[in-house]
Amino acid sequence: MKNPEIEKKIKDLLSKMTLEEKAGQLHQSGGSLVGAFDLTLEEILTMVQDGRITEEEGHKMLSEAKHDWHEDDIRAGRIGSYLNVIGAEEMNRLQHIAVEESRLGIPLINGFDVIHGFRTITPIPLAESCAWDMDLWRRTARMAAEEATAAGIHMTFSPMVDVSKDPRWGRIAESAGEDALLNGLYGEAKVKGYQTDDLTRHDAMAACVKHFAAYGAAEGGRDYNRVDMSPQRFEEEYLPSYEKAVKAGARAVMPAFNDLSGVPCSVNKKLLTDILRKRWGFDGMTISDANAIAECINHGIAADRRDAACQALNAGMDMDMTSGCFLDHVKELVESGEVSMEKLDEAVGDILRLKFELGLFDDPYRSGAEQEKAAMLTPAHRALAREAAQKSMVLLKNDGALPLKAGVRIGLAGKLAFDGDEMSGTWSGNVQAGDCKSIRDGLDAEGIAYQPVETDQPLPDCDVFLCAIGERKAESGEAASRASLALHDEDIALLKRLKESGKPVVAVVFAGRPLCLGPAVECADAILMAWHPGAEAGPAILDLLFGRVNPSARLTASFPAATGQCPTLYYDHIRTGRPAGKFKYTSKYLDAPVEPLFPFGFGLSYTDCLYSDVSAAQTAEGIHAEITVRNTGDRAGEETVQCYFRDPVARRVRPVRKLAAFEKIALQPGESRRVAFDIPRAALGYYDQDMNFTVDNGLIEVYIGGNVRDTLQADLYFVSER
Ligand code: BGC
Repeated sequence: MKNPEIEKKIKDLLSKMTLEEKAGQLHQSGGSLVGAFDLTLEEILTMVQDGRITEEEGHKMLSEAKHDWHEDDIRAGRIGSYLNVIGAEEMNRLQHIAVEESRLGIPLINGFDVIHGFRTITPIPLAESCAWDMDLWRRTARMAAEEATAAGIHMTFSPMVDVSKDPRWGRIAESAGEDALLNGLYGEAKVKGYQTDDLTRHDAMAACVKHFAAYGAAEGGRDYNRVDMSPQRFEEEYLPSYEKAVKAGARAVMPAFNDLSGVPCSVNKKLLTDILRKRWGFDGMTISDANAIAECINHGIAADRRDAACQALNAGMDMDMTSGCFLDHVKELVESGEVSMEKLDEAVGDILRLKFELGLFDDPYRSGAEQEKAAMLTPAHRALAREAAQKSMVLLKNDGALPLKAGVRIGLAGKLAFDGDEMSGTWSGNVQAGDCKSIRDGLDAEGIAYQPVETDQPLPDCDVFLCAIGERKAESGEAASRASLALHDEDIALLKRLKESGKPVVAVVFAGRPLCLGPAVECADAILMAWHPGAEAGPAILDLLFGRVNPSARLTASFPAATGQCPTLYYDHIRTGRPAGKFKYTSKYLDAPVEPLFPFGFGLSYTDCLYSDVSAAQTAEGIHAEITVRNTGDRAGEETVQCYFRDPVARRVRPVRKLAAFEKIALQPGESRRVAFDIPRAALGYYDQDMNFTVDNGLIEVYIGGNVRDTLQADLYFVSER
């Protein structure tokens, strides 16, 4: 709901602004990097891409460069926002120029990618999603906002709620996995954590939901690639997570780089105006992805920068992240009538609204150097990072090697076990070297002895090998798609070598995506999927390995047996006319199974749960289902009880299973709980051939269990119009 007082202020301000000043508000500047050169980040990247300089030279240029924020442009009203100003003093300095030295004194808004922590890095989003814990997601977002705002940041480009069904895509690391419901809940929790219910608080940070829309469906898992899908699939599987995050109150939305069925999202009116604003009532700010407006020329949809600016503005884009197309061309576009003044005022108004809502006009200086220093990496923040890491790591296999006993003699293998800086993962905010603790750091801190496994030395004499394998942080994230999800050859060789010793092997897998873990399953007695766990990686891993904490995380993305299963591996795939079976002419592969190696929702703990007495019945609102869960083991544990359904006869082909609800419960040894779910009627619906939303009369199958594969079934006859 718009605030009338703010709307009045926006109107007043708009009436005073020149066309140039309006264009300036639409411009987000990344400054430029200066050293021995005067180049922007984009220019350096282009030079690397063209082969004019090597990647190494590019990195060196970036690390040596200093930012030039072009202060004269602030004075002239040519900058509305910054990307990546870090530090309260630096931000205050620039803000003073905007507020005191520009004609209208409009404050700047500063955005940064705070994705999974600012200084205190928490597990990558894919990892944290495995906690299935909205309260945890909110709390880590709150912590990230406290640190980031203390360093002068007003807005984060998070949450990313791109449903990611293809682990070849490197950005699956930034998502909550392959399910729409989980991505939506994750996004909602993050928005609430970042923004709180009072945006004027100094430690509240505006959330920008991205990448709108369906970026995760990039063809072949190749980043920035085309996305083409039926409108029904788009509405059912991809759109809901953005809607949930937007409706949670996110004040900004970032369209995706990709085209959606032929129209780049940056100039996609259907997305930016029809769905976002008209259907969902969004009145916040849209901001392009980095340089994405200019890239419409590369897409072959805009003739030049002017054309790109014209199309983007008319589609509903407000702010231009770094391309400069708006800044350069808005004036002439309005003067020529290609963009109406009304359209321009809407865009400027959206940006001003966010600045007013954040309280930047009344209170532009929100932190200082002392406050910044005190906010970072506090003991409480480290404790939360450790808790989040404990709750994010998935125990995939345990033949009895775990938990480790105190005093066990450890052989420590694999480079990643010794490298704390690799633990932060992709998009690691403002992490500094030495912030994140490796397994070795954890062992050292606890005074636990270990012997390193050296490549050319005989294996040490020990009781168990801890073997770190997987991906370094640069192997996932943006522009880090992979054509093979196999473990690296050196990891496989290491696992084999350790197995030959006859001693138990515990594999700890670091990665930003599901990998093909077949060789680890063969060689290791236990596997802990640790992802990139962040600041407290080592200590949290040891908490789990030594059984001080019982593993509780559950996969939010299926793990492949072979890369070629992608992108058809996800759990909620639709039914075919020839489901995989023994008969040759069924839907399968000659050289790989169709089933995942580890299914969606899967994860072990040091105790066992037994499910029984499932039931389901229709209620006035939808379906009520129940099940009894008993902890049959001898230690306390947490179980994520998952409720799926299937509509076996529908007017469009429906998924084999669809997650409808879940509940995470804690059970003492021997304790039983009756767990109940209410599935709203609308959750059963889908779009028919004519795009009408439909809920069928007829049989509905409900499946409840500890993962998507191991469930108990209850059927009911659902009467839609009752
Ligand atoms: C990414 C966005 C990010 C932006 C700003 C882009 O390359 O796609 O997710 O927010 O950069 O850093």
